[in-house]
Amino acid sequence: MSNDIPTRQATAKKMASNLIKRHRLTRERVDLISLDRFDAHILNQEHRNYFFDTEFKEHYRLIALLSCLFDRGTIFDVGTNKGYSAVALAYNPFNQVISYDLVDCRELGGQDALTNIEFHVGDVCQDNRLVDAQLVMLDTDHDGGFERTFLDHLRQIGFKGLLFLDDIHLNNAMQAFWDEIELPKVDLTHLGHWSGSGLVDISGYCEHAPVEPKNFPVDPLYGADEIQRSFVIPVLDFSPHSRFSITTLLEDLKEIDGEVICVFNTPEVFEQLKDHPRIDKYCYNKLNAGVGRSWNMGIDLAEGNAVFVMNADLKIGPKAIDELEKALFSLHNAVIVGPHGSLVDFQNLQVRHYYRKGNFDKAVQTHDVSGFFFGLHMERFLSKGLRFDPRYSPCFMEEWDMALQVMQAQLACYAVPVTDFEHDWGISENHQNPEIVYFGRSLRRNDILLANRGRFMEKWFPEQNQPAVKIAV
Ligand SMILES: C[S@@+](CC[C@H](N)C(=O)[O-])C[C@H]1O[C@@H](n2cnc3c(N)ncnc32)[C@H](O)[C@@H]1O
Repeated sequence: MSNDIPTRQATAKKMASNLIKRHRLTRERVDLISLDRFDAHILNQEHRNYFFDTEFKEHYRLIALLSCLFDRGTIFDVGTNKGYSAVALAYNPFNQVISYDLVDCRELGGQDALTNIEFHVGDVCQDNRLVDAQLVMLDTDHDGGFERTFLDHLRQIGFKGLLFLDDIHLNNAMQAFWDEIELPKVDLTHLGHWSGSGLVDISGYCEHAPVEPKNFPVDPLYGADEIQRSFVIPVLDFSPHSRFSITTLLEDLKEIDGEVICVFNTPEVFEQLKDHPRIDKYCYNKLNAGVGRSWNMGIDLAEGNAVFVMNADLKIGPKAIDELEKALFSLHNAVIVGPHGSLVDFQNLQVRHYYRKGNFDKAVQTHDVSGFFFGLHMERFLSKGLRFDPRYSPCFMEEWDMALQVMQAQLACYAVPVTDFEHDWGISENHQNPEIVYFGRSLRRNDILLANRGRFMEKWFPEQNQPAVKIAV
């Protein structure tokens, strides 16, 4: 036995304790996963109960969560069987799943729609893409035989990623296999399959000289483990037109977890609030930078994977945030969700249908969502290079512009029927023509609206020289 084994074991143990923290593998995060959108694919009646389990008896939501740890990666699923682990691993559409079995016994409906899965019958060890995978799931015959062969193969080819093992406590053979693994590993049975779910981290492992693990290839933006959610609030004044203001909003946020980021646009408010205990980060603009620019600044400072952008005159309760967040991480391709949203006739610059609090009771895909309160799925938002177009600053048309960017990126916006909030309408529904001071310049609301409608048409409908711009002011 080599002398460095105790050191290796100690290093492995230390690294394992970090695994859960590093990848934020918690019940709350598994609970954010809904596999409902795969309904049509899971044909076997008995297995449907397993696949859609939400009581932490099965592993499908856990492996779907693992697929969200990275984008544009490769995931191997070894032991396809009916195909259901491959489907769950395909949860994050930005990854490619490669699934292998020795026999074909799939029971899948609507396979054409499963565009990010490749199914193969044959020997997975012959596939030279295995070495570059970020995640491998192994779920084969559970006798310890192929399991050992496969793990040796991964180490031999220099695989550096995560290995998810199903059924580690199913029988003596699997228990022994699990026990003898010296790599950093963590038992995730409490989040996964009752018969034992384990995760092995081979990302930083080196056979002969133990090293600290390389960070798993997630965007460094998400490196701060403790920050899972951010609130971004542009602040111009104390909202004299409303019952609510930044002061009441900060009170509401005392009850809700997440970092609070304020973007101050005037010295008066900044001076009064800069030491507020609920504000974690701020930026202070010498002059009012307007809505879109302030959103971008706040989003750039955010480290959460869910970012909620809010008007300062919003009243908010914890239920609204929980429900929007759940929607954000479960609705198909969701990148922006909000409590209101609309269907828009863009070319004629008109709202066709407006979903608002009280007039709908199921999440619905919309073109845009309410600018006064919306949530962003940051991994998707950033990976598609989305950004509010600063040319619409100080205000108007940012949401419609984003709606078209989202469509271009083949992502989706949803209005979600949450009710735990209140908002008094401000400048956007103000039918006077008030002054707006932007970077020290005095502008009028209606002029900005008119100019931005023109800008929007030029950007998105460049063929039409004279778009039908009908301004309802
Ligand atoms: C328990 S089932 C897999 C279930 C599936 N992963 C799920 O979670 O829904 C085990 C499968 O592994 C397959 N299998 C056994 N040895 C294998 C190997 N060497 N390579 C690929 N598949 C294998 C079997 O044919 C069987 O279909």
